[in-house]
Amino acid sequence: MLLKRTHTCGELESKHENEEVILNGWVNTRRDLGGVIFIDLRDRYGLTQVVFSPQDEPEAHKLADELRSEYVVGIRGYVRKRDEETINPNMATGEIEVRVKSLHIYSKAKTTPFEIKDDIQTNEEIRLKNRYLDLRRKPLQQNLMLRSAVYKSTRDYFNELQFAEVETPVLMRSTPEGARDYLVPSRVNPGKFYALPQSPQIYKQTLMISGMDRYFQIVKCFRDEDLRADRQPEFTQIDVEMSFVDEESIYSVAEGLMARMLKDTMGKEIETPFPRMTYQEAIQTYGSDKPDTRFDMKFKDLSPIVAGSEFRVFSKTVAEGGKVVGFVAPGFGSLGRGVMDRLTKRVQQEIGAGGLIYIKNNEDEVYSSVSKFVSEETTHKMVAAAGAQTGDLVLILAGKAPLVYHQLGDLRIMFAKEYEMIDEKKTHFLWVTDFPLFEFNEDDGRYYAMHHPFTSPNPEDIHKMESDPGAVRARAYDIVMNGSEIGGGSIRIHDYELQKTMFRTLGIEEAEAKEKFGFLLEAFQYGAPPHGGIAFGLDRIVMLLTGAKSLRDVIAFPKNQRAQSTMDNSPDSVDKDQLDELYIQLKPIVK
Ligand code: AMO
Repeated sequence: MLLKRTHTCGELESKHENEEVILNGWVNTRRDLGGVIFIDLRDRYGLTQVVFSPQDEPEAHKLADELRSEYVVGIRGYVRKRDEETINPNMATGEIEVRVKSLHIYSKAKTTPFEIKDDIQTNEEIRLKNRYLDLRRKPLQQNLMLRSAVYKSTRDYFNELQFAEVETPVLMRSTPEGARDYLVPSRVNPGKFYALPQSPQIYKQTLMISGMDRYFQIVKCFRDEDLRADRQPEFTQIDVEMSFVDEESIYSVAEGLMARMLKDTMGKEIETPFPRMTYQEAIQTYGSDKPDTRFDMKFKDLSPIVAGSEFRVFSKTVAEGGKVVGFVAPGFGSLGRGVMDRLTKRVQQEIGAGGLIYIKNNEDEVYSSVSKFVSEETTHKMVAAAGAQTGDLVLILAGKAPLVYHQLGDLRIMFAKEYEMIDEKKTHFLWVTDFPLFEFNEDDGRYYAMHHPFTSPNPEDIHKMESDPGAVRARAYDIVMNGSEIGGGSIRIHDYELQKTMFRTLGIEEAEAKEKFGFLLEAFQYGAPPHGGIAFGLDRIVMLLTGAKSLRDVIAFPKNQRAQSTMDNSPDSVDKDQLDELYIQLKPIVK
């Protein structure tokens, strides 16, 4: 029997007084007060207090006695205003309650492995294994609702701008670049494999060659890489590609999307255009290609001041082409010795720097942790060059560049977090531009595309592509929100010859390029428009909007740190018959 609901559990208020209503939901809590049973009934929309009185409705009351947490029920009853003293202002339906006339129990529930409430301390593995229960909790439901609003806002925005939403294949050829591919064997093509897309990159470029002009897609991407809090093996991109555009066109469409999304989902107005910073400046002033600009503490290069220092760590570093860099922690000149020793240890253990040098610029004393080796005059010069005021602390690292910048960047974040210097209410966007086109890999002694091999070089640097690849800038950009990379893209190569040069520089032979990307190279020869695009990490955006600490809290069914879903126990072994059909034989696992 279904008691078909007339309202949700988040809807009733005093204007519904005396109406007969039917509610469906889960028993959230149950209280028994002098024989009267109070149930908070829960659904996605909220909670409503329903009341069973032994005098008025003995039959329903008797049945209600059986109710336990998480039973699913339907009730029919009348809306009553609560007495003044029992009004609950913290509950949307807190002015009313429903006096039950009849109750129907749809299903019973075992005792749940953890309580269904907003804040729980339960170990995440247990929550993931019982994800359907975890998802009953309001914070997770709110995250999914916000995510749903993000989809809608995105689709509305792009539809209004005449973008076409096109689905691209989930089974494609393997094109190893960047992360590892997830492979899928083909039964009808024995010995052959599809790959799951790391992104629809080559399809969206192909769509531009096809004349689709403006494409977007909310699309699943798959990358077999090591996991972190902001990385999942299966994640969602808002993928965008446009023809006849330059960087400015992409920036303005992307900024419009973010502005629209924040307005639609959070009611928040943001300022556009977003500030821009070159990759080089980001590294040299924040030690990161995704700087958190919600707080200051910009780096100052102290190398020229200490180049001739009597302190070997300084002079040797600079002589060998390294850098001595520091930043000011304003007002932290009074930190004690113990605190600084602990910070130094963390810098060594967690960041991997050799040591931390600091100067406390106080009224009564300018204290330097290396005063034994560095003259007072040099110390004062460093304080001045760092821009420290009285009462400030200067934190300094010395080392090879660019490593030392990254280490100081990690220290900047570590310090800001430790002392809660980040205003979580702020929303800062930033474009990081002019990424290097290539990245040199010391391990195998070759260049890799920093973004991907379809990214266009800066025309000013094309002549250096083969002579000095490391110095070539790309027409690539990342969009950063509060210190997280939420998207990245580039203007693409649309010239067949340039694309061939690109593959050559990457050490991809012509035959190999033909084999891997043959169809795209072929397509370039039939009229390719200038084009470019961007992809946003939707999960990361939702994580930032909701303030969630992990991507797992904004994905309905995420994988754990070992890329497993313990709820449905995947990945798992398969029957021998299934493998036989695919001509697959497993090797013994040697650890
Ligand atoms: P890229 O590899 O920079 O670019 O990816 C775009 C954005 O996707 C998000 N992202 C991830 N989110 C969660 N888990 C992951 N494992 C993960 N990996 C990436 C990030 C990132 O900024 N095809 C290009 C885009 C283009 O050139 O247009 C691409 O995929 O937020």
